[in-house]
Amino acid sequence: MRKAVIAGNWKMHMTCAEAQAFAEVFRPSVEDLPADREVVLAPPFTAIPTLSAALAGSGVRIAAQNVHWEDKGAYTGMVSAPMLLEHGVTHAIVGHSEPRKYYSETDEQINLRARAAQAAGLIPILCVGESLDQREASETERVIHRQVEQGLEGIDPERLIVAYEPIWAIGTGKTCAADEANRICGLIRGWVGFDGVIVQYGGSVNPATIDQLMAQPEIDGVLVGGASLDPQGFARIANYQPPA
Ligand code: PGA
Repeated sequence: MRKAVIAGNWKMHMTCAEAQAFAEVFRPSVEDLPADREVVLAPPFTAIPTLSAALAGSGVRIAAQNVHWEDKGAYTGMVSAPMLLEHGVTHAIVGHSEPRKYYSETDEQINLRARAAQAAGLIPILCVGESLDQREASETERVIHRQVEQGLEGIDPERLIVAYEPIWAIGTGKTCAADEANRICGLIRGWVGFDGVIVQYGGSVNPATIDQLMAQPEIDGVLVGGASLDPQGFARIANYQPPA
């Protein structure tokens, strides 16, 4: 049985004071979660120490939103895995569509990031997904297959999460239909070639869509952007109701 992983990606939101206030509201609602799931939060780098301390002992894991492939060096603006480990970080998002788009991250660089994360003992959350143009041109499967193949070269699938995030569904309010998200997550699992790999769905997940998404057999969790900024809404997502 694969464990569900409910992850929140705060993107460039939340000061330390806001993260502290979030944790105070959020923490009580996730302290008695069923054992079938795990919650991960990815604050901006600056809020990691505050959030990590505020949620210590709650079972909530802390992720970084990216990680560099070198341990140290002349890479202005970057943060490495050893720096994250010092603050109790356990996961690192790599290959999110925003750095792919705004900073031209390539599959090769994303693979280096994922490898460095694993080598340091972090669990990479590799994001993959097609644009609207690619979907309309029937390129969805080819694009995601390439992202999985190149992103995961040399990666141990037992210490990995893959997030299927169709770009057209991110921040748009358009959730991918649950059965289609389920189909793509199943394809990804096949391409990874390990039945135990955790495959998440991400893209406009919210408290109203979570139960239906989590009822899909191939969807092992979600990566939530906007809806993870509200502690009560994200608590409802973490407390999703499994199908009866
Ligand atoms: P969203 O973002 O939930 O705001 O659509 C998802 C993501 O980018 O991971």
